[in-house]
Amino acid sequence: VQMVVVGVIASAIGIALGLAINWFPVQGSTQSKKIDDLWNLMLIFAVPVFVLVVVVVLFAVKEFRQRPGEEKLDGPNIHGSTKLEIIWTTVPSLIIFVLVGYSATVLSDIEAAPANAAQELKVDVYGQQFAWTFKYTGVDGKPVNTTRLYLPNHQSVKFNVHSKDVIHDFWIPAMRMKIDAVPGITTSYRITPIREGSYPVVCAELCGLGHAVMRQTAYVLPPAKFKAWLTKQSQPAGGGAAAGGGAATAAIDAKTLFTKGNGNSTACGSCHQLTAAGTPAGGIGPDLDTALAGQSAAQIKQSIVNPQAVITKGYPPNVMPPNFAQTLKPAEIDALVQYLLKNQKK
Ligand code: CUA
Repeated sequence: VQMVVVGVIASAIGIALGLAINWFPVQGSTQSKKIDDLWNLMLIFAVPVFVLVVVVVLFAVKEFRQRPGEEKLDGPNIHGSTKLEIIWTTVPSLIIFVLVGYSATVLSDIEAAPANAAQELKVDVYGQQFAWTFKYTGVDGKPVNTTRLYLPNHQSVKFNVHSKDVIHDFWIPAMRMKIDAVPGITTSYRITPIREGSYPVVCAELCGLGHAVMRQTAYVLPPAKFKAWLTKQSQPAGGGAAAGGGAATAAIDAKTLFTKGNGNSTACGSCHQLTAAGTPAGGIGPDLDTALAGQSAAQIKQSIVNPQAVITKGYPPNVMPPNFAQTLKPAEIDALVQYLLKNQKK
């Protein structure tokens, strides 16, 4: 009786703690809540099972331990107990039926196509050591490539996930969904974002030395803002307003470009230090004050456009996204080259 009381209390505490603790990132998609509810249900069943096992083990250790002077180690042989066998077959079977049944409904829910399938946004996701590239269909029907993932709020998005080299895994923890990016095949999942904000995108499959830095950001925007962003991507270079809205078109502010990106690219300064830009030391990439010292404009440009050709070996590995330049306009690349040239350490 004492043990049953202890077991019930421990289970109750375990379940209460399990449900009270916030294990996960914010729920960023309609899928998140369903998956979290499934987790909670599993926890409710798992905690008592765990407690039962621990209590029985502790009880056995205490009651049946070898006492001083005790010679006979074996207990009595017991053959069969129909009642017990029925219980320990039926109860776990019922638990498993409930969990399997509920899991199956959750799975079909989170994978279901939206009622209005034609409205669904489709994004191709490409994994490549060590960065993600996202391909949208622009308003003019031409592809739009970006290293930042923009998503419209409250709209179903289907990701078709590809890999250009090894196996990666496309994961947005706040959205709860993840799937391997496998060379040669296309995998997919869909999410419907439910709150605006920015969320980490990570690679969840060890893919090489730069695996840990294969991280980007997903931005969930109001639908109108998303539409405006996508429309802007299809405007001819130089024809539209500068990124960020407002400012003049001709002069590109290289410092802003370096520290903040163009609204579409990753910022150089998020990985590289450059004293002139005020970016902090100890980043992921080389310190550009010294790394570019003495280099020509052509060499610097090569480092931006084809970084893999510049640093091919050594440690730490070259984790500069190979697709970085794709997200910049030619004039922006030239502006960056000039900016870096101007700030070389003499
Ligand atoms: Cu890509 Cu890990």
